[in-house]
Amino acid sequence: MKKILITGGAGYVGAHTAKMLAQRGYEPIVFDNLDYGHRYAVQWGDFIKGDLNNFYDINTTLKKVKPLGVVHCAAYTYVGESVADPAKYYQNNVVGSLNLAKAMVENNINNLVFSSTCATFGNVEKLPIVETTPQKPISPYGTSKLMVEMMLADFDRAYGLKHINVRYFNVSGADEAADIGEDHNPETHLIPLVIDVAMGKRENIKVFGTDYDTPDGTCLRDYIHVNDLANAHILALEYLFKNNKSNDFNLGSEKGYSVLEVINAVEKVSGKSIPKIMEKRRDGDPAILVADSVKAKNELGWIAEYKDIVKIVETAYRWHSKPKMVE
Ligand SMILES: NC(=O)c1ccc[n+]([C@@H]2O[C@H](COP(=O)([O-])OP(=O)(O)OC[C@H]3O[C@@H](n4cnc5c(N)ncnc54)[C@H](O)[C@@H]3O)[C@@H](O)[C@H]2O)c1
Repeated sequence: MKKILITGGAGYVGAHTAKMLAQRGYEPIVFDNLDYGHRYAVQWGDFIKGDLNNFYDINTTLKKVKPLGVVHCAAYTYVGESVADPAKYYQNNVVGSLNLAKAMVENNINNLVFSSTCATFGNVEKLPIVETTPQKPISPYGTSKLMVEMMLADFDRAYGLKHINVRYFNVSGADEAADIGEDHNPETHLIPLVIDVAMGKRENIKVFGTDYDTPDGTCLRDYIHVNDLANAHILALEYLFKNNKSNDFNLGSEKGYSVLEVINAVEKVSGKSIPKIMEKRRDGDPAILVADSVKAKNELGWIAEYKDIVKIVETAYRWHSKPKMVE
């Protein structure tokens, strides 16, 4: 069996990637410290509890498992927290990734797919965002991810570690069978927050900024379904196996939906009306963030299958409607 190690595989993106890898004939093996992930989400392949901050953990895991490649999803992901506590983010996201990359080189393991983010771009001057758009992150979280991209470029030059940076836009939706879904704690993403309101777990949703230069005045974001991402990770691994060449790809559906359109989609799917509170703009929220994923189409043969926000919300809603699993 072709073994693939997934760091952060007990988390949202990692668990969906593990399921799809298993469906495509790979053997996923999850490495996670469960800081934010869930043991119940590891349903495909073995689980190794370990911390990337501990070089011994990842080094012994790679020595034992000898995977064909690694999908590196493990990170801390809260932008606001990264501003308040940057040390936590540089330690975990940068030093953790350094330990992984060093251990891969030490154990002669090539083929790394790295979960990067559109937050590495910051406030862009031109849309849509292409791979060559200047990367000027505006948060320690975004900077930590860009630092890893830069570090991996040096690791390729010096040690030949081939890798692909996959820069996600707003990840959304859930597994079609609702075996797994988005289960962040705390949750900061719009779709699950609005679903919580529909399900009576929150009273209302705050809409930050209604005077942007967009059709309805609220911010536009590019929602990419988590299964489209899982597919992109596998195509990226296979690109590495075939071409032995590093690369980077922006992954989005290339379609922007406004905050109000997302709320309308949840109202449509749930049949509930969502109370909204209109607030002022938040600092650092750009009006529009939309990806250009032409390069991923041309070089990976990848396309986003979920382009309709109602379809995306349907998968998320199905997952959130299921009784919560216990750890
Ligand atoms: N969800 C999004 O919208 C989004 C957007 C862009 C990029 N990303 C990136 O995708 C990746 C996955 O995001 P997610 O939403 O699935 O987050 P998540 O929090 O659900 O998953 C991350 C997992 O990594 C684990 N982890 C963290 N630090 C670790 C360490 N030192 N050692 C071992 N395990 C560790 C956590 O326990 C968790 O299970 C992250 O790298 C994130 O930066 C996510």
